[in-house]
Amino acid sequence: MNPPIDVVTGAFSYSGRFVAAELLERGRGVRTLTNHPKPGDPLADRIPAQPLDFEDDAALVAALTGADTLYNTYWVRAPKVGVPHTIAVDNTKRLIDAARRAGIRRIVHTSIANPTASRLSYYRGKAELEQAVQSSGLSYAIVRPTLLFGEGDVLINNIAWLLRHLPVFGIPGDGRYRLQPMHVRDHAALLVETGLESSDRVVDSAGPDIFTFEELVHLLRRAMGLHTVVLHMPPALAMLGATVAGRLTGDMMLTRDELDDLMRDILISHEAPRGRTRLSDWLRTNADTLGRVYASEVARHHQRPLKPTSEAA
Ligand SMILES: NC(=O)c1ccc[n+]([C@@H]2O[C@H](COP(=O)([O-])OP(=O)(O)OC[C@H]3O[C@@H](n4cnc5c(N)ncnc54)[C@H](OP(=O)(O)O)[C@@H]3O)[C@@H](O)[C@H]2O)c1
Repeated sequence: MNPPIDVVTGAFSYSGRFVAAELLERGRGVRTLTNHPKPGDPLADRIPAQPLDFEDDAALVAALTGADTLYNTYWVRAPKVGVPHTIAVDNTKRLIDAARRAGIRRIVHTSIANPTASRLSYYRGKAELEQAVQSSGLSYAIVRPTLLFGEGDVLINNIAWLLRHLPVFGIPGDGRYRLQPMHVRDHAALLVETGLESSDRVVDSAGPDIFTFEELVHLLRRAMGLHTVVLHMPPALAMLGATVAGRLTGDMMLTRDELDDLMRDILISHEAPRGRTRLSDWLRTNADTLGRVYASEVARHHQRPLKPTSEAA
């Protein structure tokens, strides 16, 4: 008998890659919807790729037809370098509707922890999409990550990159706002566990430790054996530094909205932690490579899309 097939958005991007690997390990088939199929990826020959083209409704339905569960990771981090969050919301609604029409059994949708805690556009969009998933008529799981870390992450890697490359690192404000990092593999396992269930569920995806931003920066600095001077600065000045660094790297390092949301103390969960991997343990084996290469949002998501690797199974 053929194994059940699931569709994962972005199976060659960050969290989607770990979700796809977890599904394959569990003996399920995987298709992906992506505009960055990465033909050289070790998993590419096992994962047929189709474009994630929100303008082509029929192709979306066709790519989803016959699949059991849709794992949706699609989102656009920063409107400054991508489409506005309102468009990302409309696009996601099209995807949800295509899943419903394709007869998908269940959708596992990635949201964010505390989606109603901020009125800025990222969170507003996330909260609106949770409602869209809940009213779609599909069986669903909504998984709400705090902040992901592990091979390929952006924020923690780029803090490490700054610590490695600058003599001084500026902590915006008092640095007491907290984060509860979740390892990306634990997150992927949680997504797949919730995908295999059948009842509707909303769950946070957060790791075992909570750090203040200041503690996190010092943890990274110590783990990498650096002597970078760490000081506090007004958020506007830290923002100016991030903008300059963004210009130099050809990226958008941080938006003002992201900084405001970071300082809102909402990248934590109020549920029991579901991840087991401690950042401090992970750093013991990964500190040497962390932050060596800058993780560019622009390079990842705004270079010209490649052709799909193969036809959908
Ligand atoms: N990473 C975190 O720390 C974190 C924290 C909280 C919540 N989340 C949520 O988790 C989900 C997955 O995050 P991730 O970090 O794993 O994301 P990602 O892999 O960088 O991107 C996920 C998907 O969105 C698509 N995408 C991203 N930016 C795009 C753009 N500008 N234009 C068109 N498509 C774009 C990617 O397309 P391609 O396949 O073409 O690359 C991919 O399919 C998102 O919903 C995010 O909000 C992440």
